[in-house]
Amino acid sequence: MSPQAHPQVTVLDAGGQYAHLIARRVREFGVYAEVRASETPAAELASRKAIVVSGGPASVYDPGSPTVDPAIFSAGPGVLGICYGQQLLAHLLDGRVRKGDHGEYGQAVLHVTGESLLFQGLDESEQVWMSHRDQVETPPEGFRTLGGTSTCPVAAIGHVERRLYGVQFHPEVVHTPHGNRVLENFLFAICGCEKDWDPRGRIGQIEREIRQTAGSRHVFFFVSGGVDSSVAYRLCRQALGAERVRGAYVDTGFMREGETEFVRESLGVEIVDASADFLEALRGVVEPERKRHIIGESFVAVQDRVLRSGHYLDGDWILGQGTIYPDTIESGGTAKSDVIKTHHNRVAGIQRLIDEGRILEPLSSFYKDEVREVGRELGLPAELLDRHPFPGPGLAIRLLCSDEELPVEPLEDGWLLPVHSVGVQGDSRSYRPVLAYEGAAGPELIERATRAVNRVSRVNRVVAHIAGHAPPREQRVRRAGLDAGRVARLRRADAIARRLSHESGFDREIWQFPVVAIPCGIEGRPDSVVLRPVQSVDGMTARAAPMSSELADRMAAELMSVDGVCSVYVDLTHKPPATIEWE
Ligand code: XMP
Repeated sequence: MSPQAHPQVTVLDAGGQYAHLIARRVREFGVYAEVRASETPAAELASRKAIVVSGGPASVYDPGSPTVDPAIFSAGPGVLGICYGQQLLAHLLDGRVRKGDHGEYGQAVLHVTGESLLFQGLDESEQVWMSHRDQVETPPEGFRTLGGTSTCPVAAIGHVERRLYGVQFHPEVVHTPHGNRVLENFLFAICGCEKDWDPRGRIGQIEREIRQTAGSRHVFFFVSGGVDSSVAYRLCRQALGAERVRGAYVDTGFMREGETEFVRESLGVEIVDASADFLEALRGVVEPERKRHIIGESFVAVQDRVLRSGHYLDGDWILGQGTIYPDTIESGGTAKSDVIKTHHNRVAGIQRLIDEGRILEPLSSFYKDEVREVGRELGLPAELLDRHPFPGPGLAIRLLCSDEELPVEPLEDGWLLPVHSVGVQGDSRSYRPVLAYEGAAGPELIERATRAVNRVSRVNRVVAHIAGHAPPREQRVRRAGLDAGRVARLRRADAIARRLSHESGFDREIWQFPVVAIPCGIEGRPDSVVLRPVQSVDGMTARAAPMSSELADRMAAELMSVDGVCSVYVDLTHKPPATIEWE
């Protein structure tokens, strides 16, 4: 619900991914932290005990680079600048920042000099994680250098009386093993923060806020089967009583096996079967962006229809949404999730409810891990709370189509599969064919694949052919669309991979495991399956996750028995250069 009006800690966001990571860490220590734009006026932050200025990709010398109101340095709260935050602190207080021409990325050893509250409890040498180009050369007047590394002599500074500190390294990342200690020292020993936050203990408060916002009105939700909307929906039912809360789930026909039944049983919402509309709208469509666009438009149409048919647009109803904290601030969310959100927000009916302020977002101050904790406290099943993310367009963007027949081509050290998939290279989108190797998909082949994408500019993705009814050279790409039979085939393959990955515990080691079908095979077995397990933190970058050969072999054997499946491939490509999803 609405974030605390006067939190003890504010993280000022200087760009990049860091601000949310810092706020999450602070909350893990039991202190609520908010994220605000770096330029937030000091007057609005006067009641804080601690301010952290985050890292970011800019240089303080870049025109228009993020800055902070210099008055925060004399307003009362303690301030800790991290990375860019330290450079900004030094720059604004008349220290010197040196522009670097090459960066320092990765592990470094910090030599702590002298005693300081910030580093109390640390060893004289500490492993830290660095990621920077510029660095502080001369600290501002009155500041002491608290530590340095071999390439960065001023890696930490502090002014004890003014409670102003800066560190060049990143204490918030796991690769700085004692980073938590540094943050705790700053929050508790230096700034005197007190513990005030436990998401599990907030349920009563959230329920009171839900009752207050809803008043005598009822609440309507579109749920997706994902964690956020499910927890928000359950909270509202608990706060207002089941009879005042309605939910609907749109079955697009591109859901995973058992998903619709799972949502019906675990949430008890109305199921709107729109699969025929979606299939019809996508008939003959091959190009991924057109697919996504049509799916978005179809969602809009169905959701509008549901809202109108249920009188949910009259004044007795408000709309519940599972919006979480990073979604509420500009820097949050991934580019892709923004796209799908735009689609959902564009529903005319929903927009009307938003414009009229008839909206209830009980989780808008929570991070995902906190939502999971609330969900556990509410007694929601672990299968629901620990699920891998699943994209809104569902299996439709994992089922590749083709409008022409093409042969597989021999290459110097593999085969060129003439199906196109999406990649990100040099920050822009690529759409290219796939290089296939034959053999087991171990770490060595993943290494070789990484080098190959740089060398063979025609491709953006590499796969290993691990089993098949025919080798790649005998396969062809055939004409194929998004028809019900192929969707059923992919759904079956996905269910097999999901079951085996769950039984072996592999699903707990990875972030996501898309299963893709490509129209590449032989007569009678026209499709092949691609396994795409990845490790990631936020989906922005990812690493291909190696499976044990035992698990890969078990999966391949079962997948090859699926009707119409020719071969099983494993995707070896990191992101970048390939995206996680194929389309
Ligand atoms: P890519 O394929 O861009 O995906 O590497 C990054 C993450 O975003 C998910 N994804 C989506 N999620 N709607 C969503 O809600 C979408 O349209 C969408 N497209 C991709 C993808 O599953 C991965 O976790």
